[in-house]
Amino acid sequence: MIERLTMYDMPGIKEEVADKSDYIVEAFSADGFCPESARQELEHKYEPILEVTNKFDRQSVSYQLSKKDALHSWLKYKEGFSADLVNILLDDMNAVLGDTVMDPFMGSGTTALVCQMRGINSIGYDVMPISGVSIAAKANVMKYDIEEIKRLISEFSCLVMPEDYAGRTPYIAITNTAYPEYNEKFIQFAAEWISASAFSKEVKNLFTLCVINSLERCSYTSKSGQYLSWDSRSKKVIEANIQREKAGRKLLPQHHCREAVENMKEAVTEELRHVLTDIKKIQFSGYSETGAKIDYRQNSALFELPKLEDNLLKGVITSPPYCNRYDYTRTYALELVYLGLGEEDIKEMRQALLSCTVESKSKIEVLRDYYVKIGAKDRFEDIYSTIKRNAAFKEILAAMEMRKANGDLNNNGILRMVEGYFTELAFIYAELYRTCKAGATVAFVNDNVRYGGEVIPVDYLSTDLAEQFGFTPVKVYCLKQQKGNSSQQMKKYGKVALRKSITVWKKE
Ligand SMILES: C[S@@+](CC[C@H](N)C(=O)[O-])C[C@H]1O[C@@H](n2cnc3c(N)ncnc32)[C@H](O)[C@@H]1O
Repeated sequence: MIERLTMYDMPGIKEEVADKSDYIVEAFSADGFCPESARQELEHKYEPILEVTNKFDRQSVSYQLSKKDALHSWLKYKEGFSADLVNILLDDMNAVLGDTVMDPFMGSGTTALVCQMRGINSIGYDVMPISGVSIAAKANVMKYDIEEIKRLISEFSCLVMPEDYAGRTPYIAITNTAYPEYNEKFIQFAAEWISASAFSKEVKNLFTLCVINSLERCSYTSKSGQYLSWDSRSKKVIEANIQREKAGRKLLPQHHCREAVENMKEAVTEELRHVLTDIKKIQFSGYSETGAKIDYRQNSALFELPKLEDNLLKGVITSPPYCNRYDYTRTYALELVYLGLGEEDIKEMRQALLSCTVESKSKIEVLRDYYVKIGAKDRFEDIYSTIKRNAAFKEILAAMEMRKANGDLNNNGILRMVEGYFTELAFIYAELYRTCKAGATVAFVNDNVRYGGEVIPVDYLSTDLAEQFGFTPVKVYCLKQQKGNSSQQMKKYGKVALRKSITVWKKE
């Protein structure tokens, strides 16, 4: 085992109990515009299990801590959580060698990789191909031939692109001209080079991960908020400004995503050197392979979980997309295009995401057809009717309708997103209940949100739905650092408590 240090081992960090009152929502509907009694009821019901904690913090539920971790730093996946968080939760659930733990929303694969290091088997899914590349590259850490990687670095760093090379990396509309001309050509040249090379498939995959992890800093874009933000030195913005000037419109502001766009060859070489250092460190650390299996599938959890056998899992550690309009397929467009996806593939993938964007359409009919196809129509009806009975969910949807009618939602897709989000998550909760063993523990990391002045307590609504499907609520850990209120909502409706939580449930 690689020695690990949790924040408890760090000097000066002690668990202390914080005052809960700052974390309890007093009013769910700004100006008392909508009924809120069902949400208030949940706020009282779960107050006894709410714990404001130091056990987890903003860093451990984000990618922050992974930046310096061997292995987990190989892919800068900003939406990921840390290995520390997974280790603490695995300890809490007493997961041991040979157990199986699930992460239905794998992302960079933190849960699976920490499990593997501890000899725990894992199962998980993600709709994006980035996960497959990341998980395979990291899971192979003990298998790499160090000499082969050294050879790769030496050959790659000597690679010279002919001056008349005419290839270019493909684009889709939202990534068009994202790279300076040299990088645009070199990305394609290097892709052809590695594909034609005789390196092993494991090393080729590692190379792909290093390219993926370099694309953003070698481009005129940066991942910010829900979309890609563009540098004003890019061809796209320069051309847009020429048109704006002609039309007498206000110019797009000067904005630099980074001081200088990096050179692709240098960036990838640096990534390769970084992973080689980690591989050496881990291979020579005395750690030996545990033999634990990672069963990862690139597909939606909504369509994979229903096929899984009953009573299999020791626990679940996951963080689904948040109900915050964040569109993974836009933020990761450069990486998805590099991995071979085209315009239509990306649109399709956007719809496969758990409903978390304003463009998400209802999946309920497709889901019903699927359950019928696998001979589980009754299960579908049971789950769906349970969701529709939930009082807080009904209240939230009614409030969203009222806010929409009053012009308070700045995008009408929000209503459909909120409805789809909880409906789909509830299917996940129900299937997890079925696939968990007695005694299993389930932990979900999520953020509460507010739209049109209405607070949606994602943590408590999820816990209530989970309880309806049979789970016993154990704890709602709430981070000391809350989620910031958006400036628009704060100005219009004032400040409210928006918890960042880890909900923990048990199957008795
Ligand atoms: C918050 S991230 C998970 C990050 C992960 N815990 C880590 O440490 O990297 C949520 C992930 O869910 C994935 N996702 C979205 N909809 C999905 C679905 N229907 N089924 C499976 N994965 C999905 C997204 O692509 C994203 O990678």
